[in-house]
Amino acid sequence: MKMPVGRPSPGMGRTEPAKTWGTSSCICVFSRIRRKLAYEPVPEAAAVSEIELHRKLLGDAPRNAAFQAALKQLVVPGKTTVADIGAGTGFLSFLARRLGAAHCTLIEYSGMLELAQKLARQNGIDQLSFVRGHSAEIRKPPKVDLVVSETLGNFALEEGLLETLIDARRYLKPGGRVLPERLRQFAAPVTAPRLQREIDIWPQVGYGLDLSAARTVSLNNMYVKQVAPDDLGGRDTGQIWDDLDLRPQARAPDSRRSATLRWKAADLPAARIEGFALWWVCELLPGVGLSTSPFAPPTHWDQIYLPLLAPLELAADDVLELMLACDTRPDVGVRLGWKTRQLRAGKTVGEQAQDSFRGRVEM
Ligand SMILES: C[S@@+](CC[C@H](N)C(=O)[O-])C[C@H]1O[C@@H](n2cnc3c(N)ncnc32)[C@H](O)[C@@H]1O
Repeated sequence: MKMPVGRPSPGMGRTEPAKTWGTSSCICVFSRIRRKLAYEPVPEAAAVSEIELHRKLLGDAPRNAAFQAALKQLVVPGKTTVADIGAGTGFLSFLARRLGAAHCTLIEYSGMLELAQKLARQNGIDQLSFVRGHSAEIRKPPKVDLVVSETLGNFALEEGLLETLIDARRYLKPGGRVLPERLRQFAAPVTAPRLQREIDIWPQVGYGLDLSAARTVSLNNMYVKQVAPDDLGGRDTGQIWDDLDLRPQARAPDSRRSATLRWKAADLPAARIEGFALWWVCELLPGVGLSTSPFAPPTHWDQIYLPLLAPLELAADDVLELMLACDTRPDVGVRLGWKTRQLRAGKTVGEQAQDSFRGRVEM
């Protein structure tokens, strides 16, 4: 079942500082994994099976192979020390130790850490330390040569990757490295009606009811969907809207990120625009990457569909403009705004503005 990536997910967060779980549970249940915010009690509703999330991750062979290839390049046998932030089952630490890492510290806030300890014992993997907690809350972190963190969401930043990796600079010895190093986010117009029809059921409910207020809330959400090349008219019209350099020597990127993209109608495969698709390409190291592009081989991650309130009909010389504004500060959760304009001879002839905060309903 695909759902809006609700509040702190690719959906809409909250307007107040996020200290409760409602938003996150959407990510937890319907997106790939939840985003943990400090001090949050975990309600019953969030008690979905953690193991199911890890089953999906570990079943993703291209993901596993990419991390193995990147670790292989960076781990110097007998020397490299590693902090594995968001260790889960311990998989990445196990790979690193098998590649000869001198020591790995596994940091994990969920109960998966106990299972990781058990798996380490069963596999005879030593030189591991286990720390239960959120990486940002560890006051005296171990100083390591390499931080690895696989906290990529369907909406790339929904699991706190950016904030976690920036904070993890505290863990690094001088000259230390992080994995992943670079993340690029893409957006493209969706021209096929399939995804919008799946979501916008409101006018068809019937029974003489006007559900337009609910429809508006719903269409202010980001949806986790499998976007196929056909949904984009068979042509990769994706443009980069965000390019994050996560390397420790780079200036720390801001959690508030925005960009404006433009497409000429003539360059699009159809005149009618239903919504937008988002995906990402992550460079663990140069030449070792992961992609959730609809045109790339599938992974366990899906894409994000941003609906429109109404489709746009572009004339031949029109320009389609998409403004994206994302805020992943820890006290916000995940907020995305998307504003669409249709320009004709430089003048705005159509405009829609959506915001994930307007798509949330308090739980
Ligand atoms: C996608 S899983 C990756 C698990 C494992 N590293 C792997 O690659 O198979 C991310 C894990 O990180 C945990 N997590 C996310 N952010 C964290 C943080 N900042 N500190 C500690 N644990 C975190 C989540 O509970 C989850 O178990």
